[in-house]
Amino acid sequence: MSTNLDALVSPEAPVRTALKRTILMCKPSHFTVVYRINPWMDPAVPTDTALAVAQWQTLYDTYVGLGFDVHLIDPIDGLPDMVYAANGGFVIDNIAYGAAFTYPQRQPEGPAYMDWFRENGFDVRVPQEINEGEGDFLLVGDVILAGTGFRSASNSHEEVSAIYGRPVITLNLVNPNFYHLDTAIAVLDDTNIAYLPSAFDEPSLASLRERYPDAVIATEEDAAILGLNSYSDGYNVVIAARAKDFERQLRERGYNPIGVDLSELLLGGGGVKCCTLELRR
Ligand code: ARG
Repeated sequence: MSTNLDALVSPEAPVRTALKRTILMCKPSHFTVVYRINPWMDPAVPTDTALAVAQWQTLYDTYVGLGFDVHLIDPIDGLPDMVYAANGGFVIDNIAYGAAFTYPQRQPEGPAYMDWFRENGFDVRVPQEINEGEGDFLLVGDVILAGTGFRSASNSHEEVSAIYGRPVITLNLVNPNFYHLDTAIAVLDDTNIAYLPSAFDEPSLASLRERYPDAVIATEEDAAILGLNSYSDGYNVVIAARAKDFERQLRERGYNPIGVDLSELLLGGGGVKCCTLELRR
């Protein structure tokens, strides 16, 4: 899992620190594409559930290998998108803000995830506003970046700000292919992000440029395979195996990119990060 390309790390690259993560995942035992709620999904294209499970298992094993504490929620038959655990809620300070999904096909996932949070000792806040959890809320240091435009309602940003008492920055998504914030931004550590400029409107882009002048700028090519949909522990960054330019940029900056192939789950419009919900106690 470690790289033999260490020579490519420039001498000025800062030293990165890996922090042990606690996350929630859901095995894609019932994964399939039978409805279309994002442009990636096409019910006419067959899916291979066994392959989805095998690819997901590799992601799970990668996280365990990195020393993460990985929790599992039981998959529910009839909820094929439940594998995208990032949408199940948003958890900081042991407070779990529940999800309220935009599309009826996913709505039963909201209560299912909230039950899991309750059973596992989290302080659950039942949402009043439509929101899709960590798909649209990303914590960077002490700031919450919040997406809207396709799924989470902007009112949910106010709800999140009231619950956590942290600054919330609203970002408007404009490209339906990047309908969740975690498809357009990758959080690398407490101060660094990577993003796809064309996914945002001008005011949001201006605010990203101002806040993160040194951000990694992803290529359209890497973003087009959901390469930004990645998960970092501050040093190791688990990314889509095919996101080659992103991989190179991460290495240059002293991170350790680890490629995983989730091609089957891409048929549902999700990647690494979508399958990962961080649990912050
Ligand atoms: N098919 C799912 C949907 O459209 C994919 C969710 C991807 N999750 C994410 N965090 N981006 O809702």
